[in-house]
Amino acid sequence: QTISVSSTASHPIPTTLWGYMFEVLDFQLRLPEYENAKIGDGGLYGELLQNRAFQLVTPGSSAALSSWSAVNGATISVVRDTTPISNALPNALHVVIPSGRTGGVGFANAGYSGISVTSGTTYTGSFFYRFPTSSSFRGSATVSLQSSTGSTLGSTTVTISGAQTSWAQVNFSVRAGSTPGNINNRFVVTLDGAAASGQTVNFGMFSLFPPTFRNRANGMRNDIASALAELGPGFWRFPGGNNLEGQTVAQRWQWNATVGPLTSRPGRQGDWGYINTDGLGLFEYLLWCEDLGMEPIMAVWSGFALGGTSIAQGQLGPYIQQAIDQINFVIGGTNTAPGQLRASLGHPNPFKLNFVEIGNEDNFAANTYTFRWTTIVNSLKAAFPQLHFIATTLVNNPVLTPKPTEYDVHVYQTPTWFAQNVFFYDDFARDGTKYFEGEYAAISTNPNDIFGSPSDGRLVFPTVQSAVGEGAFMTGLERNSDIVFAASFAPLLGHVTNNQWTPNLLAFDAGAVYRSTSFYVQRLFGQNRGDQYIPSTLPSRTGTAFWSVVRKTSSGQLVIKISNTATSAARLTFNLAFNNVATTGTATVITGNPTSSNTPTSPNLITPQTSSITTGKSFTYNAPAGLPRSSDRPAP
Ligand code: AHR
Repeated sequence: QTISVSSTASHPIPTTLWGYMFEVLDFQLRLPEYENAKIGDGGLYGELLQNRAFQLVTPGSSAALSSWSAVNGATISVVRDTTPISNALPNALHVVIPSGRTGGVGFANAGYSGISVTSGTTYTGSFFYRFPTSSSFRGSATVSLQSSTGSTLGSTTVTISGAQTSWAQVNFSVRAGSTPGNINNRFVVTLDGAAASGQTVNFGMFSLFPPTFRNRANGMRNDIASALAELGPGFWRFPGGNNLEGQTVAQRWQWNATVGPLTSRPGRQGDWGYINTDGLGLFEYLLWCEDLGMEPIMAVWSGFALGGTSIAQGQLGPYIQQAIDQINFVIGGTNTAPGQLRASLGHPNPFKLNFVEIGNEDNFAANTYTFRWTTIVNSLKAAFPQLHFIATTLVNNPVLTPKPTEYDVHVYQTPTWFAQNVFFYDDFARDGTKYFEGEYAAISTNPNDIFGSPSDGRLVFPTVQSAVGEGAFMTGLERNSDIVFAASFAPLLGHVTNNQWTPNLLAFDAGAVYRSTSFYVQRLFGQNRGDQYIPSTLPSRTGTAFWSVVRKTSSGQLVIKISNTATSAARLTFNLAFNNVATTGTATVITGNPTSSNTPTSPNLITPQTSSITTGKSFTYNAPAGLPRSSDRPAP
């Protein structure tokens, strides 16, 4: 096939084109009543201790002790403290040191399915304690990291006084002297059994961080954050996804409960069945956006809870005010209370914000979105005329007033669906409406049961085949980036075992992050976004090879992206209408067995391979095959 490439750009590529959708999803907090999963706590958020502040647990229950265990005969329980650390954190770990014990007696935390410990690394932590009844005890507590076999990997001591009956915070750091063979390590706090015999101490609001990405306090886990940074993402959509919405109105994500000192964050029953600590809150999201040079695409609650409640039109006022306050926290001047709060946290200047999304997937409550959209958007537009508001119902269905200038479109489908829908946006009217492909992924090879189980075609990890399908679709998004201003694979992160949604773009456990085939495709597009779209001969709508061409004007580089969804190599001849074309170029290729994935046991099975190729005003390139056969289902 011969492809003519123009020398003139048709449209600029939006800086926001490739980015991420993030919500707290896919890590299991191991409380029996919350058998489900998430990705902020125990994932991107750097905190190592699970259930660190006993948020929203039931005092006295064994579930309240999730991740905690007694060491050497101590009696531990979670109590509702008569003098809580804060209104937000009513619960404490109640520790009784029995008489007659020798050696260290106390308690341990097992982290989020383990704690990764590396020799030479300094772990920074803190906890609060108080003696419910004043005692003459004066001594020290030993804080350590211990391996699964009980050997001490690093430790320090802190002073504890029985005279301390109000809450006191103790800060410490522990330097690991060795690297254990696995991640089944524990954080351990003990008192000397003989010296502290009979003492009762309450503890609360623990924290332990390794060095974080860019050394931010309360920051992001370095390896996951660094992997995310590789793409050069243009935006960060947050906080959901379903996790914005709440199962009930009271359980909706509320920005004001996620900012300020950790002791003032109560945590929240998230939408994926488990408790969110909200340690990763609005301010942390915004700093993270700045660190990676991403634009926030921030959602505000749209008056609908997933359990089925829509707020009546006349009652939306307080929720609209909360959305206005949320936006003012991001961009308001210090003459607004939320802007002042932001300044008090160390960021007097407004953050960047252009896009605000009204809800999430409100096509599931479209009958009430009609008035919710009208009421909310009219108020927000009046307050922030410079902002773009993104609608979340199906495009023009129902008809919304005011007419949305942006829509968020979601699709979870098969690799073949993506390959067959490369022209999805080509026929959309150019009427000023822009589109955000806010969630997309090839998640199953079974078109009849997209959200089914792995035994029925659901992918556990992205495959070469699914990544190739997504890559084909992305060439179409790029061609249509005059109306598609942003696109993000979803979900972004999933714990390798404690997850409830597969596949995810990146998988991780407490010790490592695993880059998927889809991640490498996203990275290729992100790193080669370019700033101008260069028209070329269109691929066949019913064909199997797809391409798009962009230019990086600053370097004069032309980037051709190709996705071959066929069973055999595609021979493509490019004729470039430029006067001067270099005689060598670079090809970066992701290929392999179509059903192959990168997994924890073979994390680098499929990686991009770079080689030098002959180029020129006319050159031919053989793109390797991407799909096993024309249908999705693997051959029986
Ligand atoms: O990405 C996972 C979920 O899929 C999101 O929370 C929701 O928006 C969509 O249905």
